[in-house]
Amino acid sequence: MKFYVPRDAAAKALGADAVAAEIGRLAQARGLDIEIVRNGSRGMMWLEPLVEVDREEGRVGYGPVMPGDVAAILDGSAQSLGPVEEIPFFAKQNRLTFARVGLIDPLSLAEYEENGGLIGLRRALGMSGEEITREVTESGLRGRGGAGFPAGIKWETVRKAEADRKYIVCNADEGDSGTFADRMLLEGDPFCLIEGMVIAGLAVGAKKGFVYMRSEYPDAIEVLDLSLKVAREAGLIGRSVLGSGQAFDLEMRVGAGAYVCGEETSLLNSLEGKRGVVRAKPPLPALEGLFGKPTVVNNLLTLGSIPIIMAKGAAFYASFGLGHSKGTMPIQIAGNVKYGGLFETAFGMPLGELVHDVAGGTATGRPVKAVQVGGPLGAYFAPEQFDTPFGYEEFDGAGGLIGHAGIVVFDDSADMLGMARFAMEFCAVESCGKCTPCRIGAVRGVETIDRIAAGEAEAVPLLEDLCEVMKDGSLCALGGFTPYPVLSALRLFPEEFGRAKEAAE
Ligand code: NAI
Ligand code: SF4
Repeated sequence: MKFYVPRDAAAKALGADAVAAEIGRLAQARGLDIEIVRNGSRGMMWLEPLVEVDREEGRVGYGPVMPGDVAAILDGSAQSLGPVEEIPFFAKQNRLTFARVGLIDPLSLAEYEENGGLIGLRRALGMSGEEITREVTESGLRGRGGAGFPAGIKWETVRKAEADRKYIVCNADEGDSGTFADRMLLEGDPFCLIEGMVIAGLAVGAKKGFVYMRSEYPDAIEVLDLSLKVAREAGLIGRSVLGSGQAFDLEMRVGAGAYVCGEETSLLNSLEGKRGVVRAKPPLPALEGLFGKPTVVNNLLTLGSIPIIMAKGAAFYASFGLGHSKGTMPIQIAGNVKYGGLFETAFGMPLGELVHDVAGGTATGRPVKAVQVGGPLGAYFAPEQFDTPFGYEEFDGAGGLIGHAGIVVFDDSADMLGMARFAMEFCAVESCGKCTPCRIGAVRGVETIDRIAAGEAEAVPLLEDLCEVMKDGSLCALGGFTPYPVLSALRLFPEEFGRAKEAAE
């Protein structure tokens, strides 16, 4: 009998290792012939550690499991959750990018192949770079890091650039609060990223790739390291990809913990061994990126979406989604919710449905006050905006951004002035210091909010003015987007800033 116990960092943090050890110990003591697979997480965090057992009716789940529950699971007397894929949170999803996460042993290339892996790469090996790039463009895939730039157009710029060397860089520096999709994909299905990067290399004519990892993800680092060894031994990467004669090799680099290194030019500096300071654009990394060479810098989820696009075709992928937001998005639901975790769905689901129907409302049972979408630089949304469909243009039109699709829910006890202060403080701490609106502006922002908190409502126009300067004058998204949470908190909850509601509208 097969037992699945996630090796995902979230499951481990909740005791998955102790549960796996107890299953092994008790099975041995009882002379049972079992196999324990350390899979990725299915993304239902409130059920972790979620143990799955292969039974006649399918993979049946138990969770959250403590070591003391293992004996009852082994003798069949424990209450199960039923087939895992029928749990409503899971059943409602469209898992394209995350199709294998939680299903397979992340380090088994054989299981990866048995479950649809490498079909896209094999197809790509028979195509020209131009054809692969066209397929990606036609799929409508946009950058999943946050900016939503069309992936195919970026690839085309790199493909057409004349150079002796080109690079593929995966941005796995997932620094936004409330986001964990990059980590989960890496820990649960690392070959999906590797396959996506190899295909990107074939498309643009790059023979070398780097994955830039954040140091705060030791489990993901371990899984990627092991999977790269497996991939190299199996000929998936190296001098001749799957015996095709085409070369592509891949290395991992680990950052040192700066949020700003998630910004692509700062990341490139860090990769080159320099201080992680933002570079002015132009030149675009697509033309002068790593070591001055044309470079595709894509978020991990963007690259991880490539295998399914190449396997099933652009039209299949583009059939999901809404308007210019094609395909699916792995949405990360966190904060004060009953059911938090990873929910991959086609673009278009209204925010309120995600908060109330999928996440079950607040864990405290109190009314939802605000939802921050898109990380620490994302705007707050109030319940009256809950009909906003999850899409790039739709969120932009509502004064926000979907960013890396992290949503953090707050109940009515949240202190929105305090949250606005936190945004400015975060920017002050994480600023790379290159430009004045961000370096000085964020410090002045904290001071101004402190004055407002002390009862000086006259300082509100100064805060608004400062936010405009940061928005318009900052070199990168860190300084440029910090005003989003600040101004949205002010617009939605003016009374917390000592202002009457009409004055703010
Ligand atoms: P951007 O709009 O400047 O660029 C988007 C991407 O398109 C970049 O890779 C850029 O090089 C590329 N690009 C633009 N024009 C191009 C062209 N003509 N040809 C080829 N490539 C082209 O946005 P930026 O500054 O890279 O990212 C900002 C976003 O990052 C924000 O929307 C924010 O949501 C997100 N973000 C994500 C974080 C995370 O942890 N994932 C953290 C902080 C911000
Ligand atoms: Fe650096 Fe901030 Fe300017 Fe970005 S906005 S370049 S982080 S100082």
